[in-house]
Amino acid sequence: MHFNDIIKKDFKDVLGQEDVKRQLKSALISERNIILVGAPGIGKTTLAKNVAHLIGDKAPFVRVQGSPDLTAEDLIGDIDPIKALKFGPTSKEAFSPGKIFQANKGILFFDEINRCSEKLQNSLLQALEEKRVTVGSYKVDLDANFTFIGTMNPEDTSTETLSDVFLDRFDLIYVHYPESLEIEKTIVETSGHNKIDFPENLLDMYLSFIRDLRADDNVEKKPSVRASIGIYERAQTNAMVNERNKVSLRDIQEVLVSVLSHRMRLKPSVKYLKTAKNYIKDEFKKHLEKGGYL
Ligand SMILES: Nc1ncnc2c1ncn2[C@@H]1O[C@H](COP(=O)(O)OP(=O)(O)OP(=O)(O)O)[C@@H](O)[C@H]1O
Ligand SMILES: [Mg+2]
Repeated sequence: MHFNDIIKKDFKDVLGQEDVKRQLKSALISERNIILVGAPGIGKTTLAKNVAHLIGDKAPFVRVQGSPDLTAEDLIGDIDPIKALKFGPTSKEAFSPGKIFQANKGILFFDEINRCSEKLQNSLLQALEEKRVTVGSYKVDLDANFTFIGTMNPEDTSTETLSDVFLDRFDLIYVHYPESLEIEKTIVETSGHNKIDFPENLLDMYLSFIRDLRADDNVEKKPSVRASIGIYERAQTNAMVNERNKVSLRDIQEVLVSVLSHRMRLKPSVKYLKTAKNYIKDEFKKHLEKGGYL
């Protein structure tokens, strides 16, 4: 792929994030391995899929879900015992290639790379460095020439830390929440279903509430864009269940806790005084009073 093609193309499904797109383009032109760092649900997967599109429709896009159970064999491959009997134990034919070879000449999208064991990180190093993989004592030396795009959520506490040796092979690009309410509104309207009328003033009202929660010092885990999309969809269907054909304030109030409470976490200092559920209810009431909605 010529670098001019990369410069000209747009990551069309990702709205906003212009700085991220520029960084990503420059990293791709330099053929760097990339990790997109950021909270859940802010467009990392969508961004990587757009890169695949940019590279070409025929280029493979192989997705690996990082988890502590993922083994080097899943990724690199292993010896198929039946084929080993047929072709000989050290024959190339006996080797069944793992996921990284399917990504040859395309993209290896490695979701949540920081959930993998250090052993697995190490097994990736040769592929990343030499674009080839040698498997144990076997004479398999296969091409694994792919663009690596990983993702990582730095706030995920259930994860391994990535080793310095591993991190030294990547450029990190930081993805953020939608930069403006207008952009988030367009994301919600294009990603969410549109079944009935959703008055714009109500849409602005609840999106500004979510955006205030993200900026709130008492909130440790912040509500994602998926939470915004969730309220958009559930408020519509809530109105439908109540046999109305237009979203009202009541619909948003009725679905708010169900969509939001597990998607955010309060700081310990607040958590012991108030549950997330009550915090949302109280803050929402204040938000409505402040905006003159009540
Ligand atoms: N900047 C954005 N532009 C367009 N859509 C967005 C954007 N941010 C979030 N979305 C929408 O939010 C949803 C989640 O996005 P996506 O799956 O790409 O997030 P993610 O960062 O990969 O999340 P996770 O970390 O949970 O895998 C999708 O429906 C996507 O369309
Ligand atoms: Mg994702």
